[in-house]
Amino acid sequence: MMDSIEKADSEVYEAIKKEVSRIRDGVELIPSENFVSKAVLQAYATVFTNKYSEGYPHKRYYGGNEIADIIEDLAIARAKKLFKCEHVNVQPYSGSPANMAVFFALLNLGDKFMGLDLNCGGHLTHGSSVNFSGKFYKCFHYNVDKETELLDYDEIKKIAVKEKPKLILSGLTAYPRKIDFKAFKEIADEVNAYHMADIAHIAGLCATGVHESPIPYCDVVTTTTHKTLRGPRGAMIMCKEELAQAIDKAVFPGLQGGPHDHVNAAKAVAFKEALQPEYGEYTKQIVKNASALADSLMENGIDLVTGGTDNHLILIKLNTKGLEGKGKDVQNALEEAGIYSNKNTIPFEPASPFNPSGIRIGTPAVTTRGFKESDMKVIGKCIAKVINKYEDKKVISMVRGEILELCSNYPLYPDFDILR
Ligand SMILES: Cc1ncc(COP(=O)(O)O)c(C=O)c1O
Repeated sequence: MMDSIEKADSEVYEAIKKEVSRIRDGVELIPSENFVSKAVLQAYATVFTNKYSEGYPHKRYYGGNEIADIIEDLAIARAKKLFKCEHVNVQPYSGSPANMAVFFALLNLGDKFMGLDLNCGGHLTHGSSVNFSGKFYKCFHYNVDKETELLDYDEIKKIAVKEKPKLILSGLTAYPRKIDFKAFKEIADEVNAYHMADIAHIAGLCATGVHESPIPYCDVVTTTTHKTLRGPRGAMIMCKEELAQAIDKAVFPGLQGGPHDHVNAAKAVAFKEALQPEYGEYTKQIVKNASALADSLMENGIDLVTGGTDNHLILIKLNTKGLEGKGKDVQNALEEAGIYSNKNTIPFEPASPFNPSGIRIGTPAVTTRGFKESDMKVIGKCIAKVINKYEDKKVISMVRGEILELCSNYPLYPDFDILR
């Protein structure tokens, strides 16, 4: 599969080789990442990258689209079955454009909406002042409770009743607990607002019932396809039939041009995989692994936001160990040891977003690789060792050895001749 790249472009080939070594020899704990199957990778790297298919299946602006229609129809039908939803648009290029399309479809510029503050676990597209969502619309953020660090539905309701937003956005990027979508719907109904859920992180868990599905409680649901859902980089929008036309128009021609047919092929394959019983087992294991990792960290003296997790992600608090604002240093030290994480703000961040006091980790990728609870125990210990001595090269190098040994038990893409 790689022989043509090797001949045509040795620099890119070498970079791909290095990246394969990096992921094989490291523990990938960034909660928004995953390892797609060989079948998804192969579907992505196909001649569908060449095609232009502006429009929707059976209503295209270019000729020669009858095969691309098969692909997009398959992706739509499988996504509908997976999430039990009325309408799906699989064309969004990624999560941020998907959210933008929903805003374009349902709001006018300057309209009010509510979303979770970035510092408390929301995404940039949930109203951050540096993002289109905060620039073009009037966002009233809700936070988590200062004491419990949990969503406070009474407080959310108070803001909604006072501000009367046109849309209430639920969803997370760094919140380690379940979301009560029903409670959000009740609040939205009370103020006559749309309820939109962004399940980019937890889509896989929602598809299999490991997390309650937002579909019955929402007007629109967006998700990326590349996180727990374990598909190619991309996104989709699910909605009630009555909003289908507005959503489709907002995606194309409102925001995007031709869909990425090669990505749609890979999405179709990933959705088929997610409909298999093994995927259900996989999503259960993600949560079991996250819970085991959280326990191991806490047993080793590490504090966590909300004191644990009930989804796929964990937010480590560094400030309680005297490491306020040291997220970047700890992320770098972990990386040197072969553990990939990301620095993150914690609720009511005492330092700054550039040098925050938290580390965000999660288990979708390591679970794909086959790691189980006993491995999480080892990784938790390793992370604690690095946090406690993040400037000590000897400790980091010792942990690096342990991580390499652990990784050697779980070969990544073992039957994939990616290096030949
Ligand atoms: C909740 C949520 N929504 C949207 C996005 C944006 O997705 P993308 O990076 O594909 O634009 C992310 C990305 O991490 C996310 O976590």
